[in-house]
Amino acid sequence: MCGIVGYIGPQQAAPICLSGLKRMEYRGYDSAGLCILQDGTLHIGKKAGKVAEMEREVDVAAMTGTIGIGHTRWATHGVPNDVNAHPHSDASGAIALVHNGIIENYLTIKKKLLHAGYAFVSDTDSEVLAVFIGMLYDQLHDFELAVRTALSEVEGTFGVVVMSAHDPDMLIAARRGSPLLLGVGQNEYVIASDASAVISHTRQVVYLHENEMAIVTRHDGFHTKTIHNEETHSVVEQIEFELDAIEKSGFDHFMLKEIYEQPNTFHDGFRGRLLVDEGNVRLGGLQAVADKLKHARRIIITACGTSWHAGLAGEYIIEQLAKIPVEVEYASEFRYRDPIIYSDDIVIAISQSGETADTLAAIREAKRKGATVIGFVNVVGSTIARETDAGVYLHAGPEIGVASTKAFTSQLCVLTQFALYMGRMRDLDARTGKEIAAGLAALPSLIHRCLEQGPAVQAIALAYAKATNFLYLGRGVNFPAALEGALKLKEISYIHAEGYPAAEMKHGPIALIDENMPVVFIAPKDEIYDKVISNIQEVRARNGTVIAIASEDDTSIDAVADHVIRIPETLPILTPVLASIPLQLLAYYIAVERGCNVDMPRNLAKSVTVE
Ligand code: AGP
Ligand code: GLU
Repeated sequence: MCGIVGYIGPQQAAPICLSGLKRMEYRGYDSAGLCILQDGTLHIGKKAGKVAEMEREVDVAAMTGTIGIGHTRWATHGVPNDVNAHPHSDASGAIALVHNGIIENYLTIKKKLLHAGYAFVSDTDSEVLAVFIGMLYDQLHDFELAVRTALSEVEGTFGVVVMSAHDPDMLIAARRGSPLLLGVGQNEYVIASDASAVISHTRQVVYLHENEMAIVTRHDGFHTKTIHNEETHSVVEQIEFELDAIEKSGFDHFMLKEIYEQPNTFHDGFRGRLLVDEGNVRLGGLQAVADKLKHARRIIITACGTSWHAGLAGEYIIEQLAKIPVEVEYASEFRYRDPIIYSDDIVIAISQSGETADTLAAIREAKRKGATVIGFVNVVGSTIARETDAGVYLHAGPEIGVASTKAFTSQLCVLTQFALYMGRMRDLDARTGKEIAAGLAALPSLIHRCLEQGPAVQAIALAYAKATNFLYLGRGVNFPAALEGALKLKEISYIHAEGYPAAEMKHGPIALIDENMPVVFIAPKDEIYDKVISNIQEVRARNGTVIAIASEDDTSIDAVADHVIRIPETLPILTPVLASIPLQLLAYYIAVERGCNVDMPRNLAKSVTVE
């Protein structure tokens, strides 16, 4: 979690670090801070709250200097206040760092340092690392060696950038478990947690590997090595997306922009892959494991949050098309329950960020037990993308809104193609294959039609923005879509919402229903439509309010629902894609009406890189 940035080059470091922090603020927004080397001394400015608050309190323009670091925090150790904000410095104030992650053995190290007479001002684990490096520097008089020695003794996860007044022309960056990349410009370097902070300076980047560090100097360029001092070979890669992909482009919020991008992002998910005429899919990223896939007897999908919801929908779709048993596991549970994994199992990790710590730990466990692990990941070059045996990128482009929207529909896009690919490798006939492929190919324009419902959804949102509870119900493959709809509302509007399989409602949640409970039903015309209508009647009989997501030509539902949002007809397994669009808009407009910070909801951050 959190965004870290560092700059060294001919330009002023403070504005560059500041704009980097603004770009990465979606990663954490408990506090923000900068450290700039000015006239041989480190100057730190930091403040609890968002970057804008830090800008208000700190005279950033007065922080002049051409080397600096910055941080936007998602607190793990110590409350989000000014003192706990990063950067943290050592006892002398000559060494400072920004840290993303958790130093698990910080208490042991802290005790030793206290014993040796060092004092601490914050409650963070990160300050312990800063003071530890400072102590080692006092003994070794070598900045790089001090950093390396400290990092090889700490346990846990870190992305760090360290600077020192003793070595005014050097930044040291290192990572273990937290993402970090080095942007390589013309005699200047920007280190950051993600590419969004780098792209306005350079498209050339080096992704740091696990346990790797980069020593970046003003005059001699950079070199990389492991934290155990073995030289490494670094490859300079190109950032693929354009600057406007990380800008709001006229939308009020990133979330709304990302919702409206879905006709394109969904299309990008199957472009060059879907073979409509053959009723098949070409997934180049799975070539290496094609044989394993062919003989797999079971698939385990592991993920968290929204990606887990996509995985659950994937279970229905894969079992239907490929006839292979699928299990879906919360990565956070999977990793700790000593799961039974066979060597012919396929484990699929789904992740937007590719950095979620629980998902990463789950795939490491699966690999350790001999399974073939594949990743459906959005962020190119991310840790999960690199640690899996093979994979398929979502191609949804950068997702900045903390609440995932376009990544979810792209995950469904990739999962459906995977199911089709697996099915055609086995028993799925070409005619059905063609029908599915054509259905997928038609979705971008149908998503577009769903988006045209925006104003109608907004009107419903205004009517229910003051509700305190919501139920979301759906059956079959639309049950995961109901879960996702409820999660969207919870995340950004702070209204309590639950998703349930519609028929399960009568086993408990029905007790909640009264005239104050809006119930959202996903009720497209499919083979269980009549059953869902019965569930709607059960809600009406108890005075609940019904908001139905229904097929465009279904007029009979008007008689039983208070509000109807129309979605176009598609194949039943593809309805979650279309149903999700109005559900995203509903959550969005309710949150806006309630005055919530849609893009940066409280307590959350974009990717959870800690346990
Ligand atoms: C989505 O709206 C959430 N903020 C969250 O549940 C997210 O889906 C989850 O943390 C998994 O993230 P990942 O896809 O980046 O692994
Ligand atoms: N563990 C550190 C802290 O609580 C870093 C958290 C982060 O990654 O933002 O300050």
